Order: sequence, then structure tokens, then C-alpha cells
Amino acid sequence: MIRLKILITSTRPGRVSPQFAHWIEGVARGLPAFSVEVIDLKEVNLPFFDEPEHPAKRQYVHEHTKAWSRTIDEADAFVVIATEYNYGFTAVFKNAIDYLAQEWKHKPVGFVGYGGVAGGTRSIQLMKPVLTSLNMVPLTEAVYLPFYRQHLDAEGKFQPTEDHHRQALVMLAALEKWAGVLKPLRETPA
Ligand SMILES: Cc1cc2nc3c(=O)[nH]c(=O)nc-3n(C[C@H](O)[C@H](O)[C@H](O)COP(=O)(O)O)c2cc1C
Repeated sequence: MIRLKILITSTRPGRVSPQFAHWIEGVARGLPAFSVEVIDLKEVNLPFFDEPEHPAKRQYVHEHTKAWSRTIDEADAFVVIATEYNYGFTAVFKNAIDYLAQEWKHKPVGFVGYGGVAGGTRSIQLMKPVLTSLNMVPLTEAVYLPFYRQHLDAEGKFQPTEDHHRQALVMLAALEKWAGVLKPLRETPA
């Protein structure tokens, strides 16, 4: 089983990102390859990075870092719900990334991008150099939701189209493939 973690990266009151996370969670749970967990950075609630040593040393002094390290360590692959703020990704996500190093290594990342005209593309493109610096493998395959509000019903609930579902399956198939290809590297001692 590929242990897939879906990361919610926006934390503001009234945010829409959990809708997309729980949708992709449902799609992934329908596939035999994955065990699935949603990780909400609002609940993880990390302070601004406060470890004295470089994360590559794994000499963490804070309990919140040790818990975050365990959470990311046990993942084989990720889907990032890519909120776009000011043509970039969220500061909360960058902070959560910076806490760790080895834990992210050799793991593929798929994306669900959403927003206005660009559908989260700019956020995703800015994540890529950061993720590759940690030896992660960001995938080309993604779900994009430009003008996402068009797909919310009167109650504000996300109503995916068949095309969204198809994009999700393509992205998850690529994640499965890459998680398998990278497995020997993840099993090699750092
Ligand atoms: C601080 C801020 C900056 C934003 N910048 C962008 C942006 O650059 N591109 C975009 O498509 N939408 C942008 N938006 C609109 C967001 O796509 C929209 O508010 C979305 O609901 C944010 O995700 P969230 O609800 O999970 O926080 C911005 C929203 C906020 C609050």
C-alpha cells in the first residue's frame, strides 16, 4: 500500500481547501493502491520555525517538530491542495516544509490547484523548486480548478465534474507509478 497524505495548506477561517482535500481523499480511497490520510496544517498548528539546528541533522528539540517529523516520515506520496495567495503558495506551507528535510526525500507530489483565472498554477510552479531542493518529485499531472466558485453549490459544497474526476485519476495513477519507482531510494539509508 502507498501511504498517501493529502496536505491542506490554507488555514484562514472560512477557507475552501478542505472541500478539495476531502474530495480527492474520496477518489483515492476508491483505488486499491492507497491508504489515505488528510493532514490539515491548521490542526498541525506549527509555530514559526523554531528549531536551533538544520533539519537535516534531525536533532529536533521541540515536541511539535518530532510529531511533524513522524507524520511526514510515514508518508510515501503526497497530494498538496495548492492554495494560491498573491501568485504564490501559502507561508504556512513553506514554514511546514522548512521544519524537516530527510522526511520529504524521494517522495512524489501531486497537486490540486484552485483559484481565479490561473487555477492555482502559479502557486504550484513556485512550489516546484522548493520541493525539488528537498529531493521530492513534483508531478506534472494535477487537477486545476480555475474560477473554482463556479463549482460550488448553493451551500458552498464542491461539485466536481466528470473532467475533474478524470484529472484526479490521471494524477493519482502518476503518483502510484512514481511512488513505486522511488521506493528503493526511500529504503536506502540517507
Ligand atoms: C491573501 C490572499 C491572496 C490571494 N491571492 C490570490 C492569487 O494570487 N491568485 C488567485 O487565484 N487567488 C487568490 N486569492 C483568492 C483565493 O483563490 C481564494 O480566496 C481562495 O478561496 C483561497 O483559498 P482558501 O479559501 O482555502 O483560503 C487570494 C486570497 C487571499 C486571501
